[in-house]
Amino acid sequence: MLLINNWYVAGVAAELGDDPERVTMLGCDFVLFRDADARIHCLSDLCVHRGASLSVGECKNGGIMCPQHGWEFSGDGRCRLIPAGTKTPTEPPKRARVPAYPVAEKYGLIFVFLGDLGEDARPAVPDIMPEWDSGDWHKGVITRRKDINYLRMAENYNDPCHVHYIHEFAKWLPKGVTIIDHELTDRYVRAWHAAWDAQGNFGESSGLMMEYDVISCVSRNTNYQPEYPSQIVTAYVTPIDARNTQIHMVILMPKGETTSLDGSTVRGATAEEHEMMVNMTRDTVMDEDYAVLQTTRPRQAASTTEELLVDTDRTLVQVRQMTLDYGQKHGGIDTAALSELEDTHIRVIPCPGHKSDPKNWVHKTVPLLHGTGRGKLQAAS
Ligand code: FES
Ligand SMILES: [Fe+2]
Repeated sequence: MLLINNWYVAGVAAELGDDPERVTMLGCDFVLFRDADARIHCLSDLCVHRGASLSVGECKNGGIMCPQHGWEFSGDGRCRLIPAGTKTPTEPPKRARVPAYPVAEKYGLIFVFLGDLGEDARPAVPDIMPEWDSGDWHKGVITRRKDINYLRMAENYNDPCHVHYIHEFAKWLPKGVTIIDHELTDRYVRAWHAAWDAQGNFGESSGLMMEYDVISCVSRNTNYQPEYPSQIVTAYVTPIDARNTQIHMVILMPKGETTSLDGSTVRGATAEEHEMMVNMTRDTVMDEDYAVLQTTRPRQAASTTEELLVDTDRTLVQVRQMTLDYGQKHGGIDTAALSELEDTHIRVIPCPGHKSDPKNWVHKTVPLLHGTGRGKLQAAS
């Protein structure tokens, strides 16, 4: 299910310069741009005049100008200038606006809230990487696009058992994995897997912590080994649509000594070791996952009654369930209905402006799955 009313990573902040950028998420197009103060804004990418893509226009006067007839939109989505008209200047009508979405910057990433919840009702972007700001960790970011459903990707990041089979670096290690601790809320799961250490020993002082937060669809894997610097691999999966996913992965390794789970001191990593880890993950590990994931059917997360699941699959079952529950509460897109409309209509993700002022919009909002979230606006659209 593609969820609305959730935060998604739309890009890397340092990569957004003076030119607007198009991003596709949840099957819809958005434009990211910076205003005169370099603040980032996210609007629906399609101009309400005649449907041109704002992202091929240009940033102008702190807003964005449509490439086709020069209408200018502010960061709040309102059109403030229609240069050609019967009167001069033409006063833009109230409906001359495109949806505008809340933006947050965190961990060097651009997060966009795709939904209509007002500020008070909106969840916060999860604090899943408190190490980020300390200055004590080497940091690296990898961005990859894959033609895999986003939830399939998230399942992979929360599956401790595939590691020993899919990944060359771990094939020689013992194959057993045991969940020894487990924490679950309605939007978050954390599982501690005792698995292996570099010496091939089992033990509760080494292993893999896997966490998932349905807010922003983020997985965090923390890998502890007795004599090797720990690695934190955080992966955000943003659905481009139901079949394609944009991955933003952040890899941290400690610069100095850290304490392991059993209280022992572990040395820090060199910059070279961290760089090697980032390169290996980007060039080898992610493709090893992909080679198998692209063969998995069905393409979207399966029904649990059509698979034979075992205890070590517990976390991914919870990932699926949390997603369904969140969609039930806050809205899930009817992707089949949306793709039927694609060639003849524009549909947009609802934004907070739809809730505060439901009238005076040109583009209708995306169809939602029956019974998910939001009766009122759904009926109105
Ligand atoms: S299509 Fe954008 S100004 Fe005409
Ligand atoms: Fe993997």
